[in-house]
Amino acid sequence: MNARILTAALALMGTQLATSATGFAATPAEIQAGYEALARQSTSGFSGFSAARGEQFYRATHGNDWSCASCHGATPSVEGKHAKTGKTISPLAPSADAQRFSEAAKVEKWFRRNCNDVAGRVCTPLEKGDVMAFLLRFGK
Ligand code: HEC
Repeated sequence: MNARILTAALALMGTQLATSATGFAATPAEIQAGYEALARQSTSGFSGFSAARGEQFYRATHGNDWSCASCHGATPSVEGKHAKTGKTISPLAPSADAQRFSEAAKVEKWFRRNCNDVAGRVCTPLEKGDVMAFLLRFGK
C-alpha cells in the first residue's frame, strides 16, 4: 500500500491522523483503495467491490423512507434534488463533479450522515466501496 492510500485509509478509519488528513487531497481511486484495505479486514471472503451491488444499495430503501437516489437522483451523473429541502445537489459521480471523492474526511462525514438517514446505521467499508464502484462507472 503506498503512502497516499495509507493516509486515505487512516482518514477513513477516523484515526487521530484523520485530523491532520483533513484537507488531504486524494483521488477517487485512492479513497476506494482505502475502503478496500478496510473491507479486506472487515468482510470475510472479500473478493472485490461490485458496481451491481453498489447500484442495488444506492437505489433501494433500507428501512427508512429515503434511498440514496431520493436526493442524489436516479442518474448520479446529473444534479440531484434534496428530498426534504428541495435544494439542488451537485452530481455525485466524480466524472460530473471533480470535487467528488477528493477528500477522505469529507467523504466519510457524508457517508456517515447519509447512511444514518437512509439505513439508520453507518455503512460498511464494503457498501461504501460498492457504491463508489457504481458511481465510477458513469461518464466512462
Ligand atoms: C436527504 C438527502 C440525502 C440522501 C437521502 C443521501 N444524501 Fe448523500 N449527500 C446529501 C447532501 C446534502 C450532501 C452534501 C452536499 C453536497 O456534497 O453536494 C451529500 C453528500 C454525499 C457524499 C459526499 C461526496 C463527496 O465527496 O463530495 C457522499 C459520498 C454521499 N452523499 C453518499 C450518499 C449515499 C451512499 C447515500 C445513500 C445511503 C446518500 N448519500 C443519501 C444528501 C443526501
